[in-house]
Amino acid sequence: MKRIAVLASGRGSNFQAVIDAIEAGTLEAGCVRLITDNPDAYAITRAERAGVPVTVLAYASYPSKGEYEADLLAAMKDCRADLFVLAGYMRIIGQAITDAFAGRMINIHPALLPAFAGLHAQRQAIDYGVKVAGCTAHLVDGGMDSGPIILQACVPVLENDDEESLAERILAEEHRVLPAAAALFCEGRLAVEGRRVRILPARD
Ligand code: GRF
Repeated sequence: MKRIAVLASGRGSNFQAVIDAIEAGTLEAGCVRLITDNPDAYAITRAERAGVPVTVLAYASYPSKGEYEADLLAAMKDCRADLFVLAGYMRIIGQAITDAFAGRMINIHPALLPAFAGLHAQRQAIDYGVKVAGCTAHLVDGGMDSGPIILQACVPVLENDDEESLAERILAEEHRVLPAAAALFCEGRLAVEGRRVRILPARD
């Protein structure tokens, strides 16, 4: 059984979707740890409820990003995870970590990449005036929301949408797409060829 560790900074609804998929048996894996940079993250409560051990590395208490990331790297190594899932982890990950776990980190982003990378993706979509929005599960590389795309899902942008209503519609798709991408990884069904990720057929 594959070992998944999750990084989350806040509410943790995507983390919950991973836990729920494991419990439902659609994601055959064990969630071995939640790592958070935020001691107030609601994700911690979700982990406690699900019996998932938690590591809190309070970013604000570190004198520098370098020192924080050294501890983060050590904590991640300590997980002995096959896969790291970034579920609303709100920091750019440094190169020492992206190198150490290349091909083994998945992020969920609330936009149809490569459009609207970075923060406030849903607001960017509204401001730009696109008619279709969505989410992307992708492998993490050294850039910001730039790694090879595993799965995407789209939703319409409705006439009266604001950032919040669009974010809610996208979030429902995130909760489907992130566990599905993790499941494909765990089933060994992702073949990465440069920027392209081919999804291999399920084995019987
Ligand atoms: C999600 O929209 C995620 O895509 C973005 O931040 C939000 C986190 O939500 N990066 P949650 O913490 O998973 O509820």
